[in-house]
Amino acid sequence: MTELQEEILKRRTFAIISHPDAGKTTLTEKLLLFGGAIHVAGAVKSNKIKKTATSDWMEIEKQRGISVATSVMGFNYGDYKINILDTPGHQDFAEDTYRTLTAVDSVIIAVDVAKGVEAQTRKLMEVCRMRNTPVIIFVNKLDREGVDAFSLLDELEQELKISVRPLSWPIGMGQRFKGVYNIYEEKLDLYTPSKQVVTEKIEFSDINSPELEEIIGDEDALQLRTDLELIEGVYPEFDVQEYLDGKLAPVFFGSALNNFGVKELLDCFVQIAPTPRPIKTEERIVCPEEESFSGFIFKIHANMDPNHRSCIAFLKICSGKFERNASYKHVRNGKMMKFSSPTAFMAQKKSTVDEAYPGDIIGLPDTGNFKIGDTLTGGEDLHFRGIPSFSPEMFKYIENADPMKTKQLNKGIDQLMDEGVAQVFTNQFNGRKIIGTVGQLQFEVIQYRLLHEYGAQCKWEPINLYKACWIQSEDMTELENFKRRKFQYMAVDKEGRDVFLADSGYVLMMAQQDFPKIKFHFTSEF
Ligand code: G4P
Repeated sequence: MTELQEEILKRRTFAIISHPDAGKTTLTEKLLLFGGAIHVAGAVKSNKIKKTATSDWMEIEKQRGISVATSVMGFNYGDYKINILDTPGHQDFAEDTYRTLTAVDSVIIAVDVAKGVEAQTRKLMEVCRMRNTPVIIFVNKLDREGVDAFSLLDELEQELKISVRPLSWPIGMGQRFKGVYNIYEEKLDLYTPSKQVVTEKIEFSDINSPELEEIIGDEDALQLRTDLELIEGVYPEFDVQEYLDGKLAPVFFGSALNNFGVKELLDCFVQIAPTPRPIKTEERIVCPEEESFSGFIFKIHANMDPNHRSCIAFLKICSGKFERNASYKHVRNGKMMKFSSPTAFMAQKKSTVDEAYPGDIIGLPDTGNFKIGDTLTGGEDLHFRGIPSFSPEMFKYIENADPMKTKQLNKGIDQLMDEGVAQVFTNQFNGRKIIGTVGQLQFEVIQYRLLHEYGAQCKWEPINLYKACWIQSEDMTELENFKRRKFQYMAVDKEGRDVFLADSGYVLMMAQQDFPKIKFHFTSEF
């Protein structure tokens, strides 16, 4: 086996996603704790964007500043190199999360046992399904009273539209919660509950031994044996391939806060989770084992300090070995580039790295050369696909509030959109620019950044829009006909693609009915 192949087999690159408050931050932290990457919990917390801060986004940006270091958390666990990609918890940054999902090979979804599947969980699962991303579900907060485990499994299956298979099982719940049985390894590890450190444990492997009664009590021992029997009867044996194909989600139970069920999750995860997967480009499929380096930018983190207008572009390595100071091709502009200080993210620390492998994420200091979706290669012209823009949820006209600064405004809008802060559509009818976002916060972010980084002033004007959809048809006459008929509602996105602006669900439905040969897409990738 070559060095490259060995390194690839070690890599597990994934993201934890959840509806806010289900326990993503706590779980991330506990994985780092069990992985030995940190020694006391509390370190990741500082990265959390508090949902209460909607009106105070400066505070959020301050917190986002801290988050550069925690955007990617790499650590070694046994023979494995694990890369956890952080996703913003705040819903208004959902687009960031979607993009991050393009750079991972698998996902862990945290669900609150009392709340079950919530809106954001459903939406994120949709994105995983689109890409066949393998998904593991962690049901959290078993130390609180919640839905019975069997009912919850049914709910997960129905709501998330994926088959499920429990690989660990809770003993009791709420106040009576004692720990989890590891179905995957057929053993029981009990930990002393602790919020901060990993403490002693009892290991136990023979579920039929009367010792079980001594440890967890008669009632729970009986219940556990009955439950396990039922599980074996109801669920087919766990099939790793089905999981890797994105058709089956293994489910783990636990309480991240109290350290229960986390090690079971982590140990199984490293064994079954996919190594870096082949990735589609417009030209061909790129395999990680290929000698020639390639990677794409999936996130750009701007420095909020106007005196240092530099960014960090996050590159996911897709194939070959990345080397510091080697010359790589920036495919979009055809330039060769060298990077003297690429950074790696290990256990929340940033440090310059000499080489990196498929699955790894590195940070490239940037002064405006990159936009989201850009490809770097050893020379080949490849274009990675799959960084979709989603139809935004909120729309406003952006207007210039300082006529002397038109140039600055346009440049600012251009660059912020390249960074992926929001999307811009230009209405073909009146030439006005419309900014589309997923949350109110982005409008505030844009206004502030335009002023502080570009010296431009903007104001927002309301527009009544329901959805922006990308349109496409094989019938060019029909397409032209549609565009003519809907002239007032046509716009183009940043790449010049046609977008239909529907001002209500009804209008959209009628358009779909009247023009059956036209496809309406809600993401920019189709
Ligand atoms: P998020 O990143 O998904 O938004 O969730 P986060 O981990 O921040 O957890 C949300 C809240 O749930 C936190 O409480 C956290 O302590 C709590 N939590 C996480 N895991 C468990 C668990 O296993 N059991 C119980 N009972 N609670 C859990 P908070 O009050 O919002 O924050 P804090 O004041 O505790 O920091």
